[in-house]
This record gives sequence, C-alpha cells and structure tokens, in this order.
Amino acid sequence: MIYLLKTFGCQMNVADSDFVESHLRSLGFKPAKDEKKADFVFLNTCTVRQQAENRALSYIGRLKFIKNKNAGMKVIILGCAAERLKKTLKTDFPIVDLVVGAKDIEHFPYLFDRVFGNEIVAHQKSKILDSRLKPSGMTSQKKLTPCPLPLTPTVSAFVTIMRGCGNYCSYCIVPFVRGPEKSRPLDEIISEIISLVKNGTKEVTLLGQNVNSYSGHGSRVTSGKYDFSDLLAEVNKIKGIERIRFMTSHPKDLSDKLISAMTSLDKVCEHIHLPLQSGSDKILKKMNRGYISKDYLKLVSKLRKNIPEISITTDILVGFPGETKKDFKNTIDIIKKCDFDFLFAFKYSPRQGTSASKLKGDVAQDVKEKRLAEILKLANGISIKKNAKLIGTIQEALVCEDRNGIFVGNTRTNKKVFVVSNKNLLGKIVKVQIVESKINSLIGKHIQ
Ligand code: 5AD
Ligand code: SF4
Repeated sequence: MIYLLKTFGCQMNVADSDFVESHLRSLGFKPAKDEKKADFVFLNTCTVRQQAENRALSYIGRLKFIKNKNAGMKVIILGCAAERLKKTLKTDFPIVDLVVGAKDIEHFPYLFDRVFGNEIVAHQKSKILDSRLKPSGMTSQKKLTPCPLPLTPTVSAFVTIMRGCGNYCSYCIVPFVRGPEKSRPLDEIISEIISLVKNGTKEVTLLGQNVNSYSGHGSRVTSGKYDFSDLLAEVNKIKGIERIRFMTSHPKDLSDKLISAMTSLDKVCEHIHLPLQSGSDKILKKMNRGYISKDYLKLVSKLRKNIPEISITTDILVGFPGETKKDFKNTIDIIKKCDFDFLFAFKYSPRQGTSASKLKGDVAQDVKEKRLAEILKLANGISIKKNAKLIGTIQEALVCEDRNGIFVGNTRTNKKVFVVSNKNLLGKIVKVQIVESKINSLIGKHIQ
C-alpha cells in the first residue's frame, strides 16, 4: 500500500505526523510522490487561524477531483481543523473516509486499524508468498504510548513532552482542539530520546504549547515531580545528545530556575522562542496573557544578561479587538527595545468558541494589513542588522541537510547557515566562519 501524508501547521503537527507515519511504515506502507497513485491520502490540519483552516478545506476539495480518477483512494483527515469540524467534515466532504481529531491522535493506530484493518490484512496476505507468515503491524490496543521510533534516522528530532494547553489565551483555539495540558512522564521522554540517539539523532527539540509549565512524574525508574528545568537536566545527561532546544516558552512561566538551567547545562542551546503578542498592557490583559510589557522587558534583559549570545524570537498578533493606534505604537516600541532576532507576526483571526471572538472593537482588515506590514518591515530591518553583526564570527553548525554539496545547518542560536564544502558534512557539528548574512540565514565557510 502506498500513502501520501501532507502536514499543515506547527511543529506539534509535524511531530504528530511522524507518529502517524511510523505506524503506517510498521504496516509496510510506502510513501507516494503524489496523490494520483496513493491508496491512502492523509492530511494533518491546522485551525489556529481561519486561513489555515481554509487551506485544509480547499485541499480536501481538490482531492475530490483526484478521487474521480483514483476511485480506490482513501482520505483521512487528522489534526486541529479535523477536531473542530469533526461533526460535519464527513457530510460536507463525502470523499472523507476517516476523521481523527487532534485530541485522538494518540489513538491513531487503533482507530486506523479498526476501520481499515481487514483491507490491509487482505492486501498483506496477497503479497506474502510464504503462507506460514502472518501479516504484521496491527494493533488492537486503544491506548498506545506515543513513542514512535524515528522513520528515518534524523540528526535533529522533535520530541513531544506535553500535549494540549491550559492557558486559555482569549484569542486561541488550541485549548479547545488539543484539550487540557498534559505532561508526559519523564521516563517515557528519556527512553524516547535514548532510542533516537541510537538512530543517529544529535539534537532534540522538546515540544509543548508552554514547555515552561512542564510537570511530569517519574514512572518506572524515577519517582517524584519534575519541572521543566529538571527535565532539561535529565536530558542533558544523555550520552550522544549534543544539543537541546525547546519551544514554546510562555513569558508568565519563565522562571529564574530555567534561566539558570539554560546557563549551566552545556547542551541547552542559546535560543528562546518567547511569544510577546502585544506591547500594550490593555491588550495583554484582554488576551489573558498573565504579564504586562514591563515584565516581558525584564525577562528579556535577564536573559541577555545571563546568556549574552542568546537569540530571542517571538510571535506578534496585530489587530486584536480594541487595538488602537496607541496600543499598536506600544507594540512597535517594545519590538525596538527587545531587538528580536526574528519574529512571526499574524493578523488576528476570530476563532469560534474563544472568548475574544465575542469582543467588540473589530479592527478593519486594511488596518490589520497595514499594521502587519509595518511590523514586518521593522522586524526585517532588525534581523538584517543582527545577522550582519555575525559576519566574521565563528559559529558552531549542526548540518542536517545536503543539497547537492551545499550543506544546510543551524547555529546554536537557531539560525540557518549554508556551508559549501567538498567534504561530506551531513550529520556533523562543524565550525564555520560567517562570510555573508541575509534576513533569516547566514552563509559560512567550513573551517574545522
Ligand atoms: N489569530 C491570529 N493569530 C493567532 N495565534 C494564535 N491564535 C491566533 C488567532 N486567533 C498566533 C499567536 C501564537 C501563534 C502560534 O499563533 O501569535 O503565538
Ligand atoms: Fe494558545 Fe495561549 Fe496555549 Fe499558546 S499558551 S497554545 S497562545 S492558549
């Protein structure tokens, strides 16, 4: 059987897709190049903004035409938009065979095998020439530990440490579609990382909507509670892991203990993604973010004082209900003060069921667009200046990709760096001298 899996959205979705794919591979499925020849098409969806959901729906619409030519093709919709629309998706799109929402993704192997098991077994049997062999890979267990083995060895891997979110920022649909915050037990995370190392992984990114509030218990070997700094210390002990990253951090939960863990643990990289959202205290309050702009600025200066090389990236939301010119100016001012290495900016998109969707004071679309453009122009200017300062410096790069002799790596500060070399650098940590810089990447010369 061959399959195509498309993933929209954040790193969490990428990690969930890996989990889904590892089950498919265990059933003997092979990846397809495009939809036309696939027996199964999977779409992992996002709904954080309406535009992301529309993208998913238009792709499902296109699949209808492909299915006309490939009648046997099965369509499976996964993830956050699937969770939000699960009651109507199959009636709105009769080509959809199975919907597995984000809250059920841990049970994907069970749900998938229950619906398609017979078909897959029949197919496997037809391929097994030796009749004594049994078809393999099926699961009848509902609860499956989300501990997938890597599909193909990856130098850098994502590891989900928490699921869901309990913060209820007023604009955000994530707590509704991914459910309440749940931390995975420490031992489970550690075993997953150890198995990744055996497969060649050198860098892990610990994933959660708010990793700073991780609270996991030790299970088999350890006991007691572990906070995020404790988890970092445990991962730092794993032999073979050379770099540790994490995302996303919530400013309200970024403790001094975590900053000191980042300073003292040698494998923890000098980068933090710390979404600010707005520089106006009035808007931050309406967003239910739990901090004011002064708190955020204090955090940034504490981080820079303790970790001078740190790169700080952020998310900004423009056009939240009630955002005035003055509120927006506060956001511009704080962006200048924080000197972000990079930022992601979004136009506010009302999401059904969230408390912000009931707020008055809609900001007109053209105003949102102008504000977004202004933020991006400012942020690009800062990024260009910051990256240019790196020209001539020596950086450590972990090379994760080989594009025909041009190697692509990332610095400890999470900047993309292109390295030309006639040696094979793939999978290696190398020293490079930066010779050129762009808005969001660097060009380096391999020196060691
Ligand atoms: N509209 C626009 N952007 C949003 N985000 C979350 N919810 C919304 C929304 N309703 C942005 C936030 C968050 C990032 C992942 O997506 O900035 O940090
Ligand atoms: Fe959404 Fe806020 Fe949770 Fe992030 S912390 S996922 S913005 S509710």
